[in-house]
Amino acid sequence: MAQLIDGRVIAERVYAQLRVEIAELKTRGITPGLAVVLVGDDPASRAYVRSKDKMCRELGLHSVKLELPASTSQEALLARVEELNRDPAVHGILVQSPPPPQIEEAVIVRALDPAKDVDGFQPSNIAKLALGDDSGFVPCTPLGCQRLLVESGIEISGAHVVVLGRSMIVGKPLALLLMQKAKHANATVTVVHSRSRNLPEITRSADIVIAAIGQAHFVKAEHVRAGATVIDVGINRVEDASTKRGYRLVGDVAFDEVATKAGAITPVPGGVGPMTIAMLMSNTVKACRQAERAALSSRGL
Ligand SMILES: NC(=O)c1ccc[n+]([C@@H]2O[C@H](COP(=O)([O-])OP(=O)(O)OC[C@H]3O[C@@H](n4cnc5c(N)ncnc54)[C@H](OP(=O)(O)O)[C@@H]3O)[C@@H](O)[C@H]2O)c1
Repeated sequence: MAQLIDGRVIAERVYAQLRVEIAELKTRGITPGLAVVLVGDDPASRAYVRSKDKMCRELGLHSVKLELPASTSQEALLARVEELNRDPAVHGILVQSPPPPQIEEAVIVRALDPAKDVDGFQPSNIAKLALGDDSGFVPCTPLGCQRLLVESGIEISGAHVVVLGRSMIVGKPLALLLMQKAKHANATVTVVHSRSRNLPEITRSADIVIAAIGQAHFVKAEHVRAGATVIDVGINRVEDASTKRGYRLVGDVAFDEVATKAGAITPVPGGVGPMTIAMLMSNTVKACRQAERAALSSRGL
């Protein structure tokens, strides 16, 4: 049976380190601040925003939760983003996805101050990731996958990593991150997607398979070489009348059969999900530190 990579336990380790950093910042009168903007009342988005706000409070971060009606215009949202860009108590800004149809997400993301773009979706942060400039922000889910591997003692350098999915949120930045010529990277990365041929053959050649396609139980034992590490990013709803909500959440990996063959595997829930929020908190603390350094250097210190 595969080793279980427990995202909740590893996220707690991240929080323990962050608490030390936050306490140290507070000794200088600085509190990292995160603003989360929610437009509309999509229940899943609401739940995500609530958990981010809750985690900020648990860590003692300054948390701004901005809830705007679904009818909010793009101009009105841009104005709120500009206010947050200017607010010195806010170091990180996140606009919860997906916004209502009248709002073009790319326009909003571009309006964010790159120094506060803790989601790492701003073009200049994507460019920094591609360039290997670690002053930028890496999207939270890819960063969480990397941290899970590192904390579990799984060697990334030289490993063949096959990433399933090429989205700008997960697959593409994850590939860029793990192929970097840097510590905790240096992997040989292959990215597969819906047009890839011979997908099982490719995934079977991987030391590490990372599934981020949004297809319940897609990755089966036949996709995985014995002893490989399997990271499941997927979050999919499947009907389940035996639950109170009528559904349950499952990953992109058929956990039960793959766990009998893999060397290590993440569960869903409790794998990548908790790490995504932990990395958001970590990026917010990083943004705060960078803002402090920028303020000092602007005063010639
Ligand atoms: N745990 C977390 O914190 C977290 C965070 C973000 C996302 N997620 C989950 O991760 C999953 C992926 O999210 P996303 O935003 O990256 O999704 P997305 O934007 O829909 O992208 C899905 C990607 O998977 C590829 N794909 C879809 N079906 C495939 C198939 N049958 N074979 C091979 N490739 C296939 C698509 O290929 P094409 O490009 O060819 O269409 C696309 O590149 C979702 O379940 C999402 O809920 C979890």
